[in-house]
Amino acid sequence: MRHLMSPLDFSVDELEDLLNLAGDIEKNPAKYAGACRGKKLATCFYEPSTRTRLSFEAAMLNLGGSVLGFASSDSSSAAKGESISDTIRVVSCYADICAMRHPKEGAALVASQRSGIPVINAGDGGHQHPTQTLTDMMTIRSLKGSLGNITIGLCGDLKFGRTVHSLINAMIRYPNVKFVLISPEELKIPDYIREDVLRANSIEFEEVERLEDAMGQLDILYMTRVQRERFFNEEDYIRLKDYYVLTKKKMKLAKQDMLVLHPLPRVNEISVEVDDDPRAAYFRQVQYGVYVRMALILTLLEITV
Ligand code: NCD
Repeated sequence: MRHLMSPLDFSVDELEDLLNLAGDIEKNPAKYAGACRGKKLATCFYEPSTRTRLSFEAAMLNLGGSVLGFASSDSSSAAKGESISDTIRVVSCYADICAMRHPKEGAALVASQRSGIPVINAGDGGHQHPTQTLTDMMTIRSLKGSLGNITIGLCGDLKFGRTVHSLINAMIRYPNVKFVLISPEELKIPDYIREDVLRANSIEFEEVERLEDAMGQLDILYMTRVQRERFFNEEDYIRLKDYYVLTKKKMKLAKQDMLVLHPLPRVNEISVEVDDDPRAAYFRQVQYGVYVRMALILTLLEITV
C-alpha cells in the first residue's frame, strides 16, 4: 500500500506518468467518470481549507466515487482527545482512501503508519503540501511546455509556507531550474531547505528582499500569503502581512510570458487588478488541481482505466 507524504515519494518517472494521466483526464473526462464507482474517499481536515478539501471531493465525485469526512477538528473526536492513530484506524473501516490535513508537522505520516488505507498528506503544518505541488507542476508543465529550464521566484512567507517547501523539493529534480527566494529577513526559507535541499544538491538560487529586483528574470512568480495561523504573535503578522503586493505596475517589469501562480487563498499579496493580466494563472491552477487529484486517487487505489 502506498501513501503520499511528500512529492519525493514519487520518482521523476512516476510523476511523469501521473501528470500524463492527469492530462488525459483533462482531455477525456467521460472516460474516467465511473472509475471509482463503489469507492469512498474520507477527508479528515483538522485545519481550514476550501480548495484542497473541495477539490479532493470534486475529484472523487468526478470519478464516480463517494466522499465522507470532517472539515474541522472541533467537529471530530479530536475535540474529545482521540489520537490521530486511533482516528485513522477507524476511518480505515469506513473508506478506501483518506486525505488528511493537520496543523502539526508529521501528522499525516503518523496516520499512514497506522492506516489500513492509503493516506494523502493534504498539508501538515508548515512542512509539506504535496498535492498542491502536483497542481503547481501540472500548471507549469501545461502552460510552459516542460518542467525544466525555468527560473522560479518564490515570494512572501517562505518560512511557514508549506507549498513553497514542497515545490522546491519537487522542482530541484528537473534540469536547469533556478530559484529566486524573495522574502523579508524574518520570513526567509528555513535552513533545512537552504542547506539540505538547495546547497546539498548544488541548485542555483539567490535570496533577495525586493520583488522589483527579481521580477525581470523570472519565468514563474509564485506568490504566497503570510501564514497568519503560524505566527506566535499578531503584531508580527500585522507588520509583515502587506510586505509584498503584486500590482499592474510591478507586472510591467516582468517578462511577457512570465506566469503568476498562487496556491490561494490570496489575502492582499496580489492586487485584484492583476487578475485580468493574461499572465495571471492562479485560477487556471485551481482547475488543474482537480485533474491531478483525480490522477492521484486512481494511482494510489491502483485503478487503471
Ligand atoms: C495553501 C495551504 O493550505 O498551505 N492553500 C492551499 O491548499 N491551496 C496555501 C495557504 O494556505 O496559504
